[in-house]
Amino acid sequence: MKPTKLLFLGLAALTAGTPSVPAPEIFTYPNELSAGPVNAQFHVTPDTAYLPLDHPRVSPRPNQTSFDWWWFSAYNPANLNESLVVKFYLATNASFPLRATTTDAVSVDVFVGFADGSAAPVMIEAKPADFTPKGQAVVNVEPRPAGGRVAGDWQTTGLTFREVDDGFEVRVDAGWMGLTGSMKLKTLAPPRLPCTASTHQPNAPLSMLPHVGWINTVPDASASVSLALNTRSTNKQLNFSSGIGYHDQKWGDAPFHSSVRSWYWGTARFGPYSLVYLQSTSHSDTTYSSVHLARDGREVFTKCQEDSRAPEGDCDALQVLSNEERTTLRIAMGDCSDLLVSIEKTRELVEYGSVGRWTGVLEAIVAEEVKFEGTAMMQEFHF
Ligand SMILES: *[C@@H]1O[C@H](CO)[C@@H](O)[C@H](O)[C@H]1NC(C)=O
Ligand SMILES: *[C@@H]1O[C@H](CO)[C@@H](O)[C@H](O)[C@H]1NC(C)=O
Ligand SMILES: *[C@@H]1O[C@H](CO)[C@@H](O)[C@H](O)[C@H]1NC(C)=O
Ligand SMILES: *[C@@H]1O[C@H](CO)[C@@H](O)[C@H](O)[C@H]1NC(C)=O
Repeated sequence: MKPTKLLFLGLAALTAGTPSVPAPEIFTYPNELSAGPVNAQFHVTPDTAYLPLDHPRVSPRPNQTSFDWWWFSAYNPANLNESLVVKFYLATNASFPLRATTTDAVSVDVFVGFADGSAAPVMIEAKPADFTPKGQAVVNVEPRPAGGRVAGDWQTTGLTFREVDDGFEVRVDAGWMGLTGSMKLKTLAPPRLPCTASTHQPNAPLSMLPHVGWINTVPDASASVSLALNTRSTNKQLNFSSGIGYHDQKWGDAPFHSSVRSWYWGTARFGPYSLVYLQSTSHSDTTYSSVHLARDGREVFTKCQEDSRAPEGDCDALQVLSNEERTTLRIAMGDCSDLLVSIEKTRELVEYGSVGRWTGVLEAIVAEEVKFEGTAMMQEFHF
């Protein structure tokens, strides 16, 4: 079955005298594998520049060896045990091997960390396309300037995400899995691409490394979470406000693990600063780094670097050293003075196979002078 792409006439286009505003688009993804080649977008193009950042990037839709997924997360800096990560997938376990359990094309993973330190991963697969109701995901894209918003409805899983005036809302209505609630993210730092905060700059690269696209619509957010998990064995709630939130989208036209050998990602908040870093090394030993720093909600710098040697020079965008207890970052700021961040792996949220995810406390030193304490969420992969 081919994906249906319904076009609706943009209301604004009907208004006399206004230039035509692109119409909203609805992308429908049945829960079945597509065969044949796909096209993934790795540069800003003139005809997609008017779309909100989070629009689908793999067309007609991911096949068995490609993927597109939307990540939303929040944790409580006052209790690092408390966290929520929701991933909306158009991806199978062949394109993303950490999804060991599913061959579904449409699914959602929810990872809940409760105050008492217990954790529950809840994997929710959409029902097969020949079931009633049919398993499918729908992504609704409303172009700018009409509003420029994205909304995703992973219908039979019971989870949705929606762009709102000041950020995003994720709703969890998976009563059949015992999971209900919501997560709200209020954006605190401007969106950005891997190498620039000019998100609609023509030809700006969207790839983090070859075959892996990455955009970071919400580098930092104020988050509130209210969630209940009621199953035969568990009856727990997760409630916090004044949390720290984050949202991004990643996609690719080849299996993730064939593009990536190692992956160090994190988002950190200290003093007035919001930091996002990502460093990934490919199987051909090239290291790709991307760093974004905002202060009081404004971009300080966004940098990326590609290197065939391990970054070690003074002015390298990002050096990452990681061991079992902590991850240490050395970041060259605009003038090459250092930002040093040492993040403790305080609370392990997930560990399976080659992936680890933590929340942690950190210490940051800006330009050898100003010291801050803060918190972070980070993730590492090794293939
Ligand atoms: C999926 O798409 C990619 C990129 O076009 C292509 O290389 C690959 O062969 C396709 N896979 C299948 C199973 O059709
Ligand atoms: C994907 O999941 C299916 C069903 O559990 C399993 O048979 C298959 O081996 C998995 N594939 C990979 C690449 O992990
Ligand atoms: C976090 O969980 C651990 C158990 O893993 C517990 O000992 C600790 O008290 C919890 N922290 C807080 C702040 O509740
Ligand atoms: C926590 O969240 C759950 C699920 O939304 C809700 O039912 C419950 O009332 C909340 N509890 C508190 C103390 O706010």
